[in-house]
Order: sequence, then structure tokens, then C-alpha cells
Amino acid sequence: MMEVETNPTGNYFVANYPPFSYWSADAADTALNRLHAAGDSNQPLGLYIHLPFCRKRCHFCYFRVYTEKSSSEISDYIRALGNELAHYASLPYMANRRLKYIYFGGGTPSYLGTGQLRELFAELQSHLPWDGVEEVTFECEPGTLHEQKLAAIKAMGVTRLSLGIENFDDQILQANNRAHLSRHIYSAFAAARKVGFPQINIDLIAGMVGETDANWRDNIAKVLQLAPDSVTIYQMEVPFNTALYRQLQNEGKPTSPPADWPSKRRWQAEAFAALAEAGYQTSSAYTVVKTKDKAHFVYRDSLWRGGDLIGLGVSAFGHLNGAHIQNEKDIGNYQRRVFTGELPISRAYLATVEERLIREMILQLKTGSVDSGYFQRKFGHNILEKFAKPFDELMKEDLLLINEHQVELTANGLLRVDGFLQRFFLAQHGGPGT
Ligand SMILES: C[S@@+](CC[C@H](N)C(=O)[O-])C[C@H]1O[C@@H](n2cnc3c(N)ncnc32)[C@H](O)[C@@H]1O
Ligand code: SF4
Repeated sequence: MMEVETNPTGNYFVANYPPFSYWSADAADTALNRLHAAGDSNQPLGLYIHLPFCRKRCHFCYFRVYTEKSSSEISDYIRALGNELAHYASLPYMANRRLKYIYFGGGTPSYLGTGQLRELFAELQSHLPWDGVEEVTFECEPGTLHEQKLAAIKAMGVTRLSLGIENFDDQILQANNRAHLSRHIYSAFAAARKVGFPQINIDLIAGMVGETDANWRDNIAKVLQLAPDSVTIYQMEVPFNTALYRQLQNEGKPTSPPADWPSKRRWQAEAFAALAEAGYQTSSAYTVVKTKDKAHFVYRDSLWRGGDLIGLGVSAFGHLNGAHIQNEKDIGNYQRRVFTGELPISRAYLATVEERLIREMILQLKTGSVDSGYFQRKFGHNILEKFAKPFDELMKEDLLLINEHQVELTANGLLRVDGFLQRFFLAQHGGPGT
């Protein structure tokens, strides 16, 4: 893990297991065949919808996004999403299943106009009913919002609004090619509060190009003034497919070099300490919540416990009946396959029971604690014995503690969690094995 400390570029965030590089086109048909058997109606079912449109591409962003699509191209995409969902809804695996949570991610879902959003929601609801849905999250870029649009979004059923604020400083926002400025943050936040969403989350990134100690302190003060229901802070990554990475490779130096990992961790720690002081509580390695009743984030909690997720849209990820699924990564290929009546799966991975156990355990470690009883009941394994070696190492490094049946990360462990999860990977996935 030395590389994590010294190399500012690369992708260390662990989003899934086994890693995406082990998924294959060959597994796609078998993953699909698994959906021809009846599903378990007690298993939570979620829906993720990828909206790959943004006003500008941020220099640090690695998501699949398009910045110049016309409104008729967006309408075609909405139709494709509807067709894809209709296909899923017709499969035996979905019979008698009810949606528990929905997540509109991107890209920028709020890039769509109110009319397009109405079209999208109606299209989706015509194929799978939303009664019984506990949470609908909707990601927004502040500069795309105004009060009427927010009121419409709320009326359509969104319960959790997530604002990509990232930083409050206009120079930093511009240097990183964000489309919004700080005045958009204030107008969007005030309008969202006025409309009255049950939960407003804000995203920040520690270590954007141009970040300084003084500016970060200012960011923290501004977050405390806004007092959102939850705050999510990511340590900035510079993955290979970003404009920032290319700037670093081709030009040697962007406007200023990205921050090193110790600075990013320190900034994240300072922000969480100030938020804790103001009464916020830890919900995961990235998120703090204002009150305990907001701690339940159904999307994350279901996914990290192996729940089913239908992933709709270009490059979207899903997880169904133990199989990981990813869609076509190009919008043209995605739509072509959907409109010819296929599911547009480009690659998949059929996780073994052991791999599912590892996946759930490493994802749950990101919440700060895992309960060994859960794994004993669900998988019939004692994780304290199975992973005795990495747990022991991490205890010696002051990154976690074990209290009877509970594994708990220390504050330092939470800040570094993505840097050590690989120690639980199987040898064939780049880990030491167990
Ligand atoms: C899909 S975006 C959220 C919605 C909207 N697109 C926006 O950016 O305002 C999800 C979040 O990922 C985070 N993110 C994007 N690129 C990142 C990177 N290179 N390192 C760390 N976090 C990143 C940002 O905090 C961003 O808000
Ligand atoms: S607005 Fe969000 S999704 Fe779009 S490029 Fe920026 S970070 Fe990526």
C-alpha cells in the first residue's frame, strides 16, 4: 500500500468485489439466465438509473458523462431506460418483487428539465410500481436547480436530495472545471430547504486542485452554516480516465499539483471533527448525519448487505441473484441493444459464496463496524477466524479493534479504509489470500 501514499494518481476507492477488471463478457449470458428463475420476494430490490448528462466535464471526473446531447437525444435515452426496465420487469426473477429504494445518479440527473423528468418518472413507473418505496435519492449539480424544478422533483417522490457542492470557492470550482459557482450553491440550498425535502445531503471533495488549509477551514465553516442533514466527503482521486490525469501526464503540472494523501486525510479528519463537535454522527467512512433518524441510507445499506439492484442506463452497474452486471459503456451501443429487444449487459461476474461474503464484509467495514454474528448467520463462517491474519495486522497498526463479536475501525482506520481493504481479497484478485 506504499503506492497509495506516494502516487497522487490512480483509483483506490473500493466500490465492489471482485474488482471490475475480473468481470467478463463471457459471464453475461449466465448472469441473464439466472433471472429466468423466480426471485426471493423477501430480498430488498433497488433501482439505479444512470443519467449521463452534465453541463461540463469536471477535470477530476471519471464517470461516463456526455456534455453535448440535444433534448431529442435525451428523449431517446429516456425511452431506452423505459424499454430496459420493461425487459427486466418481464423476467421471472422480478415476479412479485417490490421496489424498496431508487437512486438517480450520474452524470447529473438534475441536468434534465422538468418536462423530461416527468417523462422519465412516468416511463419508469409504468413498468414497476413505486408504492412501498422507502427512499428516492436524486443527485444534483447546484447550477441546474431552481425552486420550481425542485418543487416538481419533490412532488415526483424524491426523498433524498444530494447536492454536488464539492467546494465553496469560485476560483477552485473554476480551476477544476465545475459548472457551478458558490452563488448557485446558496440559491439551490435555500430553495431545496424551502421546498422541504426530508433529507438533503451535500458532497464535498477534499483535495481539489488549488485546495489550501485556509480555504478548507472556510469550507467547513460554510457547511456548518448551511447545516445539511448529511455531509459526504470524498478524498479526491485522480483516475486514469480523467482530464486531470492527462494534464499531469502530458503537461507535467496542472495549475497546481493535486494534494498528497496525508493532506487529504487530514482535511477529511478536520471536517469530520468539526461536524462531530456540531452534533453530527458517523454514518460511514465518507458520510456524517445530523440526527440518528437520518443515518439509515437505504440504498447503501441494502447494497452493502447483498441486496438486489437493477442498474439502468449506459455503463450502469447492477447486482442480481449474486451476479454483478455492467451495461454497455457507449450510449450508442447501449441504445442499439435496448431498442433491438436485448438487455444491454456488456460484462458480468458470477460471485461465489465466498466472494459474496468478502464483498459484504469489506463494504460493511466502510460503515465503521461489522458484526461477526451477521456473517455467521448468513454464510455460516466466523469472520474473526477466517480473517484472523489481516484483522490482527490491522489491530497492530491501530486501524481497528475487536470487541467480542464486533469489528470496529478506529478513527484512523476509517480515514484509510480504501487503502487496506485489499488485504481481504483472495489471492487471484490481487490480495494475499486467506
Ligand atoms: C455523480 S457525482 C454527483 C452529481 C453531480 N454530477 C455533481 O457532480 O454535482 C457524484 C460525486 O462523486 C464525487 N467525485 C467525482 N469525481 C471524484 C473524484 N475524482 N474523486 C473523489 N470524488 C469524486 C463528487 O463528490 C460528486 O459529487
Ligand atoms: S458534474 Fe458530476 S458527473 Fe458531471 S463531470 Fe462533474 S463530477 Fe462528473
